[in-house]
Amino acid sequence: MISKPGQVNRIVSGMRPTGRLHLGHYHGVLKNWIEMQHEYDCYFFVADWHALTTHYEADSEAINDSIWEMVIDWLAVGVDPSRATLFIQSRVPEHAELNLLLSMITPLSWLERVPTYKDQQAKMKERDLATHGFLGYPVLQAADILLYHAAQVPVGEDQIPHIELTREIARRFNYLYGRETGFEEKAEEAIRKLGKRGAKLYRNFRNAYTERGDNEAIAKAHALLANNQNLTTAENERLYGYLEGGGRAILSEPEAILTRASKLPGLDGEKMSKSYRNTILLRDDPQRVEKEVRAMPTDPARVRRNDPGDPEKCPVWDLHKVYSSDDTRAWVEQGCRSASIGCVDCKQPLIDDLLKEQAMIAERAAPFIEDRTLVRNIIADGCEKARETADETMEQVRSSMNLDYY
Ligand code: TRP
Ligand code: SF4
Repeated sequence: MISKPGQVNRIVSGMRPTGRLHLGHYHGVLKNWIEMQHEYDCYFFVADWHALTTHYEADSEAINDSIWEMVIDWLAVGVDPSRATLFIQSRVPEHAELNLLLSMITPLSWLERVPTYKDQQAKMKERDLATHGFLGYPVLQAADILLYHAAQVPVGEDQIPHIELTREIARRFNYLYGRETGFEEKAEEAIRKLGKRGAKLYRNFRNAYTERGDNEAIAKAHALLANNQNLTTAENERLYGYLEGGGRAILSEPEAILTRASKLPGLDGEKMSKSYRNTILLRDDPQRVEKEVRAMPTDPARVRRNDPGDPEKCPVWDLHKVYSSDDTRAWVEQGCRSASIGCVDCKQPLIDDLLKEQAMIAERAAPFIEDRTLVRNIIADGCEKARETADETMEQVRSSMNLDYY
C-alpha cells in the first residue's frame, strides 16, 4: 500500500507508561480510543522514550514494568489489536530517525515557547529537566505523529500546543524539502490524471481554498485525493501541496481532536489522579474499592441521616452520573433531597456497578496475566505493522532530503 499524505482515516495517539492505569484514564482517554478503533485506522503506542524525558534517572526499571501492565490494561478494557495497531515507540526506531531530522529544522525559539516546557519544569522541581531531551520532547512527539501521516490526534487540552507545533514543523519541512523545479507544471500534469470530473472538482476546491480560505473545500479535496488510485506517491504529494500553494506535501499536517476531560472524581472528591493518591485502578482489589467508596466524602450538609442533602455538592453524585441509569439517578436525587435515603444506601448501587466493572476487567486481563507471551506477540505484530508504515514515510523523507545514497 502506498501511504498518502493526510490519510483521512488515520489516528495516532501515544500514552506515557507511568504506572497502573486508573478509572480516570478509562473514562477519559481509553473509552475514546475504544470508540475510535471502530471508525478509524488507529495507531496506539506506548510512549516509552517520552517517559524517559522526565524520568531518566532511576526509574527505568519501573518504566519497563509499566509498559506491559499498561498494555494489559488497554486490552482488558477493550482496546482491540485486531482493529488498532498497538506498539511500543522504542521498538520502531524510525521515530528516533525522524526526530533527529526534524530537530535539524526546528528553531529553538519554537520549543522554548511551548507552554508545557516551563510548566513541567516548575511542577517537577525535584528533577533536573534542563536537558536537551526534555526541550526536544515536542519534536519527538511531532515525529510520532508525522511518521504515520495521521489526520487526527486525540489529546487532552494541555497537548494542543504540541499538535500546533507538529503542524508548523510539517509545514516547514514541506517548504524546505518539497520544492522542486517545474513544480507547477508537474502539479498540472498530475491534475489531468484525476480524470475530467476529478480535475474539475480539484480545481474548484483549490480555488475555494486559495480565494476564500474555505477549509471545508480543503477537506473535500483531501478526500478526493485519498480515494484516487491513479497517482504515484510523488504526484499525490504534489497535489496535496498544490492545494495550499507550496511544494510537495511530504509530511501531512494533523488536526487535534480534543478528548473531553474525564469528570470522574477521585476517592476524596478531587479530580482522580495518581499524584493525588485518590484513584481506583482498572485492576484494583475489590475489597479496597468497596471500603474506599464507603468512606468517600458526601455533601457536608448531611451530618445526620435525616438531614436533606444536595447531590450537586457531593462527589458521589459525580460517580452516579458516569455509572448509573436514569432510574437510579432519579432515585438518588429524590432520596437525597428528601432524606428518604442515607448516603450508605446511595453508595450501594455504585459499589455494585464498580465491582461488576472490576470483575469484567479482571476477567479480560486474566489470560494476558497468565500468559505474557500473548501480550508480547500482540505488541510484536503491532511493531512490525507500524514499522512498515513508518518505513514508507522515511523513504520519502530521506529521498526528499537527498539522503538516499544507494
Ligand atoms: N505527550 C503525550 C502525553 O504526555 C504523549 C504522546 C507522545 C503523544 N507522543 C504522542 C500523544 C503522539 C499523541 C500523539 O500525553
Ligand atoms: Fe451524596 Fe448520595 Fe449522600 Fe446525597 S445521598 S449526599 S448524593 S451520597
